[in-house]
Amino acid sequence: MATNVTSATTATSDGGTAAGASSPALARTPATRTPAARAHASGGGGDLQELAKRHLWMHFTRMGAFAEHEVPVIVRGEGCYVYDQHGKRYLDGLSALYCVNIGHGRAELGEAAARQAGELGFYTNWSYAHPPSIELAARIAALAPGDLNRVFFVSGGSEAVESAWKLAKAYHAATGEPRRHKLISRQLAYHGTSMGALTATGLPPLREPFEPLTPGGHHVANTNSYRWQEDRDPLWAADAIEEAILFEGAHTVAAVILEPVQNGGGCFVPQDGYFQRVREICDRHGVLLISDEVICAWGRLGHMFGCERFDYQPDMVTTAKGITSAYAPMGAVITSDRVAEPFLHGMASFTHGFTFGGHPMACATAMANIDVLEREQLCQHVLDREGEFRAMLESLRDLPIVGDVRGAGYFHAIELVKDKETKETFNPDEAEVLLRGFLSGELYRRGLICRTDDRGDPIVQLSPPLIADREQFEEIEAILRPTLIEAWERIVRH
Ligand SMILES: Cc1ncc(COP(=O)(O)O)c(C=O)c1O
Repeated sequence: MATNVTSATTATSDGGTAAGASSPALARTPATRTPAARAHASGGGGDLQELAKRHLWMHFTRMGAFAEHEVPVIVRGEGCYVYDQHGKRYLDGLSALYCVNIGHGRAELGEAAARQAGELGFYTNWSYAHPPSIELAARIAALAPGDLNRVFFVSGGSEAVESAWKLAKAYHAATGEPRRHKLISRQLAYHGTSMGALTATGLPPLREPFEPLTPGGHHVANTNSYRWQEDRDPLWAADAIEEAILFEGAHTVAAVILEPVQNGGGCFVPQDGYFQRVREICDRHGVLLISDEVICAWGRLGHMFGCERFDYQPDMVTTAKGITSAYAPMGAVITSDRVAEPFLHGMASFTHGFTFGGHPMACATAMANIDVLEREQLCQHVLDREGEFRAMLESLRDLPIVGDVRGAGYFHAIELVKDKETKETFNPDEAEVLLRGFLSGELYRRGLICRTDDRGDPIVQLSPPLIADREQFEEIEAILRPTLIEAWERIVRH
């Protein structure tokens, strides 16, 4: 395995690596450190590269890499495409960060927000209500499966997860089981970065620097079956949840939190019957089931909610991202009258909130987003087209570096391997060279934004806007195939 490809570029967004996030393949620019005053004096916005390097703190980003490389500055978007500051077009195969579900450039969402700003720019949901949050809550209640009919708005995914865990604890305390406080989640799962959400997150490199975390987290096996022995009971990972509940003591466990398709590790789908078994287990032990649909709701899996795809009924859904197609920051916890009941009488309340929960402009944006999802029947579009998307990815299996293809809807991953027969993966140094040293930058250079990630085994992940069609699938293949061939030639075979 060669190590002569320039490595050590940039990790971005929940610890993965966004293609193009500073790469050796990008043009080099000097890393100037101009004071703010001079940058401002340089006229209006000044030089975006210079200002970004001087002032912007990018999330999950090895900013040192930008000493030698350009910051990828995206200035415009239209449909499935975005454009950088040099006017170069990219196919946004990641919907930015699994969130621009209806695609870029939908001015009508901003127009809805602007109309709302003219009417009522902000009022709070702390003891008050306003029409946008009331109407959006009612609309979500009508769309949500089963008895999910009550909506607690927040500003993003981590806040949703944080709120759901707190609500689970508060619910049990209010119903006479105050010792139930623990949260069970899965290894490699990403549930956010605030201290409670980070406790649910099952990625050691993200957790370890911030320990001690919130007490009460427990992680179980995920559903990645790529290396399972053939005779393994397909529902063993579901049963592992029951073992964990029994080990911790059911009377101490508040909730289990699971994504319909697990993002961290690369689009792990559930085995047939997995969620039905988990539901039985949760019911048997009085544990609440939280479906974390920060990515998987709003059409990503071909349904408004991811749990509908796998036909299970959670006690709570956490969502964000696609609720506004990311045109405004918003998240929500959606739950039932049963869970809300203890907080609806007398002096009881759920003593929790965020200033911007249910922000009227975000609500108006979400309404306009759902209008588009419905008007253009984007869930049905995903169901109609996902076979073609999948077939394109499956066709890459003839490449020696492609070990597995998995996912559902418009949410798929390709696992990269050193040896297809033995399923041997790359060690951390090799993965660094493969992903950050080559693939990430090269895919971006060739005009495809997707995600390379080695938080589990190395993967390339795709999550295009829900409007994507054959043209985009062909374009993805036209870029992925030669780049993966080159990765194999340069890095593995070398
Ligand atoms: C399943 C899941 N939960 C929670 C989060 C955290 O969301 P946010 O980044 O909006 O805080 C994410 C973010 O990607 C996610 O994928």
